[in-house]
Amino acid sequence: MRPFPKRRALFVLSALLIGLSSATQTLPTPPPRPAEAARTLNDPIFPGLGQLGLDVRHYDVALTVEEPGSPTLRGVVTLTLGATRPLGEVRLDFLGPTVTAVRWNDRAVPFRVDVGAQKLVVTPPSPLLTGQEARLTVEYQGRPGVVRDPDFSTPVELGWQSVPAAGGLPGANFTLSEPNGTHTFLPSNDHPSDQATFTTRVTVPADYTVAASGVEGPVSSGNGTRTFVFTQAQPIPTYALGILVNRFERVTGPAVPVGVNGSPVARRDYFLADTPQTTRTIFSRADEMLRVLSGWFGPYPFAAYGVALVTPRLPALETATLSTIPPNLSTERAAVHELAHQWFGNDISLAGWADVWLNEGFAAYSELLWTEAQGGDGQAYAARWYANLERQGTRPLPARRAEQLFDLSAYQRGALALHALRAAIGDAAFRDFLRAYTARFSGRSVDTAAFLAFARTQAGTAGEAALRPWVESPGLPPLPVVER
Ligand code: TRP
Ligand code: ZN
Repeated sequence: MRPFPKRRALFVLSALLIGLSSATQTLPTPPPRPAEAARTLNDPIFPGLGQLGLDVRHYDVALTVEEPGSPTLRGVVTLTLGATRPLGEVRLDFLGPTVTAVRWNDRAVPFRVDVGAQKLVVTPPSPLLTGQEARLTVEYQGRPGVVRDPDFSTPVELGWQSVPAAGGLPGANFTLSEPNGTHTFLPSNDHPSDQATFTTRVTVPADYTVAASGVEGPVSSGNGTRTFVFTQAQPIPTYALGILVNRFERVTGPAVPVGVNGSPVARRDYFLADTPQTTRTIFSRADEMLRVLSGWFGPYPFAAYGVALVTPRLPALETATLSTIPPNLSTERAAVHELAHQWFGNDISLAGWADVWLNEGFAAYSELLWTEAQGGDGQAYAARWYANLERQGTRPLPARRAEQLFDLSAYQRGALALHALRAAIGDAAFRDFLRAYTARFSGRSVDTAAFLAFARTQAGTAGEAALRPWVESPGLPPLPVVER
């Protein structure tokens, strides 16, 4: 589908109307102009996403899944909103079920759904001013929308996934949203530059288990149902919210003291009845992986870590505190890759999608670091990336089109940029750099320019100079060599 064909027309029309109204009347305190309120975040890759000036601080999500495996759901979501410019309208990304009620600080307010723009447009009683906070509640019910993954050669439908019962397996649901699928089931400012905290409450039939991003609270039982609650207290991008419904087996392990100031990181994995022991063993090594990666990256940013398994063949996704793993990616490599994204992608988010190499390059590089920690040959790992890029072609790191977001260059050229930095400054300074970077950008978003500026301050001109050709040059710079 062409992205938002109707938006441009809408923009022109509202610009025209402003022209007319300002010619005919003068107001003492003009409300924010429609075109102003309608401005998106203007992400060059996804121009329709997000609202300029809107800052969602917290999502309180309550979902009811009456029949796991069917797409139908019911939601009551309360967003805690702030603004960085006056907003006469709140325009949330939403392509979800039918909206049945909207309240602003508990009072009903007018709303409309702009299907072409994929927005839920809400008009508050008075504009939300800079520095004010408000609570916006949205109730909805029905079938989530469908967003086709714009970036993978294998077509994936993003957002709320429904796996009907079949072949003796129970029906299941789960989220799989990167980059822009969260608004298929959750009204949201669906852009990674607006990280937020989440409370997630999900009600399911009593024989089902819910797994979600964050720390689990007490389970409450209703009339044939159970309600699970999770608190994600550190901000994450919307696509990283993981919610999974299945007949899970929850397996806990000893906490690992690698959190901020040595705080414990709780360990829990969600397996399925038929999950083989080999798979369980791979993911049980997360404690060792947490120790190795936090040795390079600094404290693990969240309060828990583990995986939840899904049955369809899909890419794996780094859903916060709880990576989503399909059977085809039940590998040590995927395990360490998705874990690394908790630092790079989830804790440190993106200012824009063009710079997604800052997620994938670090996650891929963690595979090399883990290989070395196991006594393997990291330089050989890097040489394989280099050969892949020579064979398949490459590009400068900032992506220019959606199809480039998750291509070979984002992952392997991105990782080689970090290898080049390490080769230039040495292991000790590289470790210092990584730890300073995560400390500096924790809970914030970053872009390539900020990354390079930080490299210059932290790793000097030699560090920056090692990175720059990997970021900018159309061709492939020479293979960096790290002597060990
Ligand atoms: N970030 C994922 C990874 O490399 C890849 C990914 C991008 C993905 N978009 C996705 C996975 C959508 C599942 C669905 O770890
Ligand atoms: Zn990745």
